[in-house]
Amino acid sequence: MTQAATNTAISVRNVSHSFGEADEARHVKALLDTSLDVTRGELLCLIGPSGCGKSTLLNVMGGLIAPTTGTVMVGDKPVHGPMPNDIAFIFQENALFPWSTIHENMILGMSFQGVPKAERADRAQRALEAVGLDEFAGHYPSQLSGGMRQRAALARALSLETNILLMDEPFGALDEQTRMVLGEDLSVLLSRSKKTIVFVTHSLGEAVFLADRVAVFSARPGTIKEIITVDEPHPRKSAFMTSARFHQQRDQLYDLLHDEIRKSMAQSGKPKRAYEDQSSRAGPAA
Ligand SMILES: Nc1ncnc2c1ncn2[C@@H]1O[C@H](COP(=O)(O)OP(=O)(O)O)[C@@H](O)[C@H]1O
Ligand SMILES: [Mg+2]
Repeated sequence: MTQAATNTAISVRNVSHSFGEADEARHVKALLDTSLDVTRGELLCLIGPSGCGKSTLLNVMGGLIAPTTGTVMVGDKPVHGPMPNDIAFIFQENALFPWSTIHENMILGMSFQGVPKAERADRAQRALEAVGLDEFAGHYPSQLSGGMRQRAALARALSLETNILLMDEPFGALDEQTRMVLGEDLSVLLSRSKKTIVFVTHSLGEAVFLADRVAVFSARPGTIKEIITVDEPHPRKSAFMTSARFHQQRDQLYDLLHDEIRKSMAQSGKPKRAYEDQSSRAGPAA
């Protein structure tokens, strides 16, 4: 195996995906001939207009959707379905069971994924400590704030001890301050764990703050238009958010996205979900 191959956690080659191929009226080309390598230990953000295929690509990477054409490799294994030993998912709606405590939710998550029974309690403890929730193990989801519930969802994913985390707008439903703090925590986690993370966001600020690289999508059918590198070590500090370089890179992303958002709006005939950074380019990051 070459050096390049061993450094690659996920390799996406010429992936296209269409939904509803059999039905002409409902046929949607979501992804078009997309190729991308995710490097081991990096946090790669996917950003692009709403509906451009970010979630589709993430789900293809994790084996939840079989692409219409093209291939995905995780390490040296071709992806043909979910790979619970290699990949854990975190979604915006984290679906913790409301009738179970945080600890019980984690044990359940591990049992679904086949983690040996003897290891579950230790792993739950370690993962809750990693996200600073160990004192809340006995609480029910309804007793926690939205930010804490998302932390619990992160802990549940961490307890699976996969090398790869695929996160689809995980902080999308949270307020701006909470997502900034969770972003800082995720950066600390990344610096300690060396996990490989692919993170979908519609926030330009969140992308620059978290990512080692940001892949910018074109309008649908989505493909990667450009990749920018954010050269700042983890753990990232809040001071990075107020630096000139941060603002310059966020503006660069905005410039790359602007035309794609217009194209995407023209396709749908009505405005898509607004980019919060569009109206407050000089404001605080989110
Ligand atoms: N299960 C599905 N069936 C039909 N169309 C879908 C399905 N999932 C997504 N799409 C369509 O594919 C396109 C890309 O969707 P998605 O990957 O969810 O976009 P994003 O995450 O970038 O907002 C959109 O036009 C969406 O409506
Ligand atoms: Mg999506």
